Amino acid sequence: MPMRTQVGIVGAGPAGLMLSHLLHLAGIESVVLEARSREYVESRVRAGVLEQGSVDLLRASGVGSRLDREGLEHGGINLQFAGERHRIPMTELTGRAITVYGQQEVVKDLIAARLAAGGQILFDVGDVQLDGLTGDEPLIRFAHDGAVRELRCDFVAGCDGFHGVCRAAVPDGVLSAYERTYPFAWLGILAQAAPSTEELIYCHSTRGFALVSMRSPTISRLYLQVDPDADLGDWSDGRVWDELHSRLEVIGDWRLTEGPVIDKGITAMRSMVVEPMQWQRLYLAGDAVHIVPPTGAKGMNLALADVRALATALTAWYAEGRTDLLESYSRTCLERVWRAQHFSWWMTSMLHQLPGHDPYTERLQLAQLRYVTSSEAYARSLAENYVGFPFD
Ligand code: FAD
Ligand code: PHB
Repeated sequence: MPMRTQVGIVGAGPAGLMLSHLLHLAGIESVVLEARSREYVESRVRAGVLEQGSVDLLRASGVGSRLDREGLEHGGINLQFAGERHRIPMTELTGRAITVYGQQEVVKDLIAARLAAGGQILFDVGDVQLDGLTGDEPLIRFAHDGAVRELRCDFVAGCDGFHGVCRAAVPDGVLSAYERTYPFAWLGILAQAAPSTEELIYCHSTRGFALVSMRSPTISRLYLQVDPDADLGDWSDGRVWDELHSRLEVIGDWRLTEGPVIDKGITAMRSMVVEPMQWQRLYLAGDAVHIVPPTGAKGMNLALADVRALATALTAWYAEGRTDLLESYSRTCLERVWRAQHFSWWMTSMLHQLPGHDPYTERLQLAQLRYVTSSEAYARSLAENYVGFPFD
């Protein structure tokens, strides 16, 4: 006997969970299918920076209370290069701020809210397949608890991230992909160490990029540019700290605080946009249709912006039979997506060393860093992109 819901959602990352939550607030039923366990998705360490608009959305939809207690609001970021550190005073320049709050905390808050409201999230599902997308009642087939099950729905939301299956369910020739891979990766650690800085430090160095971030008053989050084929096994905790010290400790007596490493991973750096973000009854959102390198801190924020637009469009369809917002969903989202693509590419290009340390590129980077830290106009441009544009 197939299950039935209004919107079948594949993926319980920030996009899928927030969509399910917003639809529930509008009186629309959904079921979320997630390949991993609840424990896994709640502990996966990823993004940490929420734009002002994302914070406003979490608050307005009633899932902001822990964020309000534990999130760290920042009014600026630091750019470090050539032995100098400069602050970009984002709030002074834009009137808006960012909040440091781990993605897995957002995920925990959304899962708790969905389950408290009786929402259905099926974890540990396998072999998700989409069928009947061209008709009025698409079908999602999946394996769960040792059986093959079916979920019928009005719409499918593909929120299953970069490696998901939904994007691939669209026939060849319908979607266009625009991509770039970068010749470097990020090695990230989470450490039990008080943050060494009040606000984030994005550091250009002749040894490669480094980033100092945090999660709480006792947990630091740090990143290093490494080779794209770097092996985690070659990066002992000691080597990671040595490299962080070398890249960062070039400003007076400023020192990086060390502590036990509690998580370590390598992330590839790529840009990708797939257009359009919809085909028939399938709507794609978040990393399933676009990826940015993390240097601009945009990925989770774009995922949340997509599903806000999708929830509004689906609500208009269910409440008033309106099709206009569903028809313009892809166009609406892509405008923000391409702005974030450009910003993330720009930040990435300005801050990373190319393999072989091309001296011409390095001089251009330093010229740009000097300009952005000395011209109020340029600093404001960086700041308004970083804190994020309003939703409407
Ligand atoms: P995901 O979080 O990838 O969720 C997709 C879900 O679908 C997953 O739970 C996955 O298990 C599930 N899934 C996949 N395939 C299937 C399937 N076949 N069936 C069922 N379920 C499936 N973004 C920021 O905004 N700010 C930052 O500071 C930032 N920093 C980052 C740092 C790092 C190191 C990394 C890796 C990313 C960072 N990002 C950042 C990006 C951000 O983490 C992603 O953009 C965000 O996770 C996208 O959310 P999503 O819901 O679209 O996808
Ligand atoms: C993080 O804290 O994980 C983080 C912060 C800023 C970025 C990327 C990641 O640009």
